[in-house]
Amino acid sequence: MKFFIDTANLAQIQEANDLGILDGVTTNPSLMAKEGIKGTEAIAAHYKTICEMVDGPVSAEVLGTTFEGIVEEGKKLAAIHENIVVKVPMIKDGIKAIKWFTDNGILTNCTLVFSAGQAIMAAKAGATFVSPFIGRIDDSSWDGVQLVEQIVNIYNSQGFLTEVLAASIRNPLHIVRCAEVGADVCTCPLNSILGLLKHPLTDNGLAQFLKDAQAMQ
Ligand code: E4P
Repeated sequence: MKFFIDTANLAQIQEANDLGILDGVTTNPSLMAKEGIKGTEAIAAHYKTICEMVDGPVSAEVLGTTFEGIVEEGKKLAAIHENIVVKVPMIKDGIKAIKWFTDNGILTNCTLVFSAGQAIMAAKAGATFVSPFIGRIDDSSWDGVQLVEQIVNIYNSQGFLTEVLAASIRNPLHIVRCAEVGADVCTCPLNSILGLLKHPLTDNGLAQFLKDAQAMQ
């Protein structure tokens, strides 16, 4: 399973990249706004900086909602760097635009996916990635990981090539469960990635080893 980081914060991207386990980055308008990025030029410059930091796909989301608007915006985003993946919302015009991008060799991430039917549409349009939002599904007392599993099974049985990118990750257990059910990618906040490292028995064991090592010197 590939690890993407789900942020537009450069320090967090650098920290995850320095671990040597980072395969890509996803952003969304909320994450960009959180970093205070404003205006077309600043947005493009920020995406370029991220692409130069991380060797892997970087999802940049369109702000338009019409076919023409999404295509125009997506072409400009894709021109920023070869690693840009145009992130398109799961709406009717979004699906049309994903098909256009597919036919024109532009990578896409179909976002805001909350059902298997939506995931089938994204795959039919040729999306590179599909993003089921598992944390937001859990928030409504449904099982987000179950949806990831369902999409993985459908794609495998139908031979769809779209990669299942589990998004809206809230904790390390989400990552473990997504790995169990065969997600191709997990996009995670830095805290959830670092949470995978934690176990009190590791801390206790290391403390004891370090204490005993002193006695050896
Ligand atoms: C990533 O592609 C999504 O935009 C993101 O994971 C959404 O996460 P949230 O539900 O925590 O906002």
